[in-house]
Amino acid sequence: INNKAKLWEKQMSHSDLSLNLRLKKVKNNYQSMNIYKVKFKGKINQNHSTHDLLCQLKHRVNMTMLKSSDLPDSARNWSQYLPNKDIHEVVGKLKRCAVVSSAGSMKGSRLGQEIDSHDAVIRFNAAPTKGFETDVGSKTTFRLINSQVVTRREHHFLVDPIFKDGILVLWDPGQYNADTYQWYKKPEFNFFEPYRKYRMANLEQPFYIMKPQTLWQLWDIIQENSPELIHPNPVSSGSLGIMLMMNICDEVNVYEFLPSSRRTDLCYYYKRYFDTACTYGGYHPLIYEKNIIKKLNQGTVDNIYKNGKVTLPGIGDLQC
Ligand code: C5P
Repeated sequence: INNKAKLWEKQMSHSDLSLNLRLKKVKNNYQSMNIYKVKFKGKINQNHSTHDLLCQLKHRVNMTMLKSSDLPDSARNWSQYLPNKDIHEVVGKLKRCAVVSSAGSMKGSRLGQEIDSHDAVIRFNAAPTKGFETDVGSKTTFRLINSQVVTRREHHFLVDPIFKDGILVLWDPGQYNADTYQWYKKPEFNFFEPYRKYRMANLEQPFYIMKPQTLWQLWDIIQENSPELIHPNPVSSGSLGIMLMMNICDEVNVYEFLPSSRRTDLCYYYKRYFDTACTYGGYHPLIYEKNIIKKLNQGTVDNIYKNGKVTLPGIGDLQC
């Protein structure tokens, strides 16, 4: 992958010969499998203005969380634990928010202080702060987790102190066209029982679940604004977290989602594991997610290069 593309100075695509051949094959495989039965009805390669794109994100991606009343009565044994209050009500008005990607390029960034200076910070899955404070900070206001984290034994979800800080938000992908009932009958990972157990033991900690439609609403907009067909798979946690913060904060600073000059094949700042797919997407349509974020950046190219930092506007008060 050439340097320019790596730094996201232009939009990236899979027809880009510089992109890793293996990642292209992985994408083709997912397209022929179409696990989530994606049937995209819109038009690709639309050239929306930044303002239009922000309005689409505001009006078409529903970031309100699942409520017990969205589910059948048979789900009561766990859905009764879903919070009644909107996230807005719980956190109040937030001015500056930080999104901390888990990328290996966070390592050695010394961005910790800057990150902690925000009113709220969102982190992902099992990304730790302990021992990494200088680079990633120590404040955790939100933690967005996928249903694997909750269900796979290696994560020790019920006992690991990592998850006890801040507001938890969980997501689990359903089929592209599934309504809430259909998703409930066939979630990707059966998180209901661990959710119930966790809630019973930690009733004071807010713990939301995203509506299953939300990720596909965002996927549609990414597909419409991409030059080619994208992976027919869920968007990454990173993009969902960015969207959540854009809905509740006035300004959102995202770190190492668009890689800085520290770009590396090291997948995570907290693990010795190397794979280009982590940054450019194997399963997720990650380069296309990143193209959109690059388009919406209000900060400088220099800030991407030095800090992997992108500045996005809040959309809560946006006039469309
Ligand atoms: O893998 P996981 O979803 O836990 O990582 C959190 C998020 O950080 C990802 O969803 C992705 O958006 C972002 N990420 C990245 N580059 C990496 C690793 C993670 O952009 N190398």
